[in-house]
Amino acid sequence: MKTKILKSSQIDEAVSFLRNGELVALPTETVYGLAADATNEEAVSKIFSAKGRPSDHPLIVHLDSFAKVIDWVEEIPDSAKKLADSFWPGPLTLIFRRKKTVSYLITGGLETIALRIPKHPIALRVIEKLGTAVAAPSANAHKRTSPTKPEHVLKTLSGKIAAIIDGGGCSIGLESTIIDITRTTPIILRPGAITALMIEPVLNIEIQEQLEHQEKVPGNMQAHYQPEKPLFLLSIEEIKRRIKQENNVAIMHYSDITRRKNATHYKMPKDKTEYARVLYETLYSIDSTHVDKIFVEKPPFRNEWLDINDRLHKASSK
Ligand code: TXA
Ligand code: MG
Repeated sequence: MKTKILKSSQIDEAVSFLRNGELVALPTETVYGLAADATNEEAVSKIFSAKGRPSDHPLIVHLDSFAKVIDWVEEIPDSAKKLADSFWPGPLTLIFRRKKTVSYLITGGLETIALRIPKHPIALRVIEKLGTAVAAPSANAHKRTSPTKPEHVLKTLSGKIAAIIDGGGCSIGLESTIIDITRTTPIILRPGAITALMIEPVLNIEIQEQLEHQEKVPGNMQAHYQPEKPLFLLSIEEIKRRIKQENNVAIMHYSDITRRKNATHYKMPKDKTEYARVLYETLYSIDSTHVDKIFVEKPPFRNEWLDINDRLHKASSK
């Protein structure tokens, strides 16, 4: 199959592919998603084969309005209304108890379901015109880096999906925060742009963050988000020491260091939001060069950098 590249004005074409049970990659504010009509089981199953994704790995269902939440969940807790009021549309995914009619294909066999209303005009228009909802994981082959530009999607999914809508770069650049609100104490399963510090005042309760790797939560697999080149997370001192013995490395650093001829330097932003926006793009650029490895300066270990630390940790070769 040849993957068709659609302009942002070709929403109707994208919608007709989705209606015909085909897959369409589309931009969201976080990363590109690989969309299928969430009410069409055969279409949803294509997501797993295109990505090479294990079938027990649940998908996020994307909606265009809060009114549609009730089609997917058993009940809407108060916390969901509060979080939706504050953060939807936006980079927050909520875990609910699934409605009994929702396919296990979407939930990976779980009794819960992940929902999000994205804040991107293209994604919203596609869902609205389709009239249902779209199941959409990040639009990359399983375990690989999430795409923030159309060319990243083509790198691992070209020929495997019907179309991609070119919406340029994603403004946030990291996947959404995932929060499980089915428990008495809500817990963040995947950190993102919406932090615990932002959520706590909305729910008036202390939020837990799952820092340890847990097999039970498929999103928390240890090896994930990986670039092709081996990536090493090092302090700036370790980088300075290691590059004396290395000849062909890429260095991603935000501290100032003397540039070396035997390394390619990628100066990263010191601002967290900017860093998040360019992180995956930088990894994709490095992957298209001939360096042997990537040295990444460990980002600050402060709360607001939690999502970046999490993704880099999972992207690194141990
Ligand atoms: O920003 C994002 O969330 C992007 C855009 C496209 O919306 N999507 C995304 O999807 O990152 P994906 O499939 O690459 O990651 C979603 C994660 C998975 O790791 C999955 O394990 C977790 O969400 N997830 C989905 N349903 C879940 C559930 N019921 N319980 C726990 N985790 C769940
Ligand atoms: Mg993903």
